[in-house]
Amino acid sequence: MSEQEYWQERYDENRTGWDLGKISEPLKQYIDQLTDKTIRILIPGAGNAYEAEYLWNNGFKNVFVLDIATTPLDNLKKRIPDFPKEQLLQQDFFKHKAEYDLVLEQTFFCSFPPVKMNRTKYATKMASLLSDNGKLVGVFFDLPLTDDTEKRPFGGSLKEYRTYFQAYFKTIVFERCNNSNADRMDKELFAVLQKKKPVVKQSNNPLHGITLKSMLEELILHQGWEKMAEACRINCFYSNPTLKSSLVFLRKHDWAREKVERFYLRVRNKH
Ligand SMILES: C[S@@+](CC[C@H](N)C(=O)[O-])C[C@H]1O[C@@H](n2cnc3c(N)ncnc32)[C@H](O)[C@@H]1O
Repeated sequence: MSEQEYWQERYDENRTGWDLGKISEPLKQYIDQLTDKTIRILIPGAGNAYEAEYLWNNGFKNVFVLDIATTPLDNLKKRIPDFPKEQLLQQDFFKHKAEYDLVLEQTFFCSFPPVKMNRTKYATKMASLLSDNGKLVGVFFDLPLTDDTEKRPFGGSLKEYRTYFQAYFKTIVFERCNNSNADRMDKELFAVLQKKKPVVKQSNNPLHGITLKSMLEELILHQGWEKMAEACRINCFYSNPTLKSSLVFLRKHDWAREKVERFYLRVRNKH
């Protein structure tokens, strides 16, 4: 049975004991203190995605929900009919490619068989999906691992989790949750992990010394907004673009800035 079939069957047979039926309190409190509602957010292994519903209803529209099973995505669509279908992704997390400012984790990590390879793969994939300084925020079970590789949720400890995440993430918070659901009380850790910026030796960095403003000015002059929009697919280049508004947007969004940098280097390398 494939992973997709396994999870689909669990939904078909209503074996969804992990489902809280509402957003978890740790994630709700984290979301409540976010101020920038334009950030791109991914919820992988989202299940019924109560976090997405909460975000959507609170004005966050750049929310992407990903699950390998179809039923939970259909369920969300029924609950929020105007949720954009292109933001509902029926896909294997490990094959997904995009860039986000924030990824929310809820009972997803603990669903993979708890072998080192899977856990390392998860940490690496999370890092690859985040912009520099982007955050992985969520709850991780603080439960002893047993030899039973069938019985989910699979646990782990803070010490073990650190070994997977420390290469890619700076720990902002990783501590015992004080606001877990009653049946998970004292069994969860709350984490805010910030992706580390890759260390780039300045002498090897082709963009060293080039400001974002001068890069944009050069692109506007030699390529024009239309080509820039086509190549980068960033909203601020499409409608009534200005240098000023583009700078404001790109300074806030590393993922977008990196797209522009890549385009700039492609153009420059052609000449
Ligand atoms: C334990 S459930 C948690 C669901 C949800 N986060 C929650 O807390 O209610 C794990 C979810 O991950 C999904 N899943 C498992 N493996 C996946 C993969 N490789 N890619 C995407 N989703 C996956 C399953 O379909 C399931 O919905």
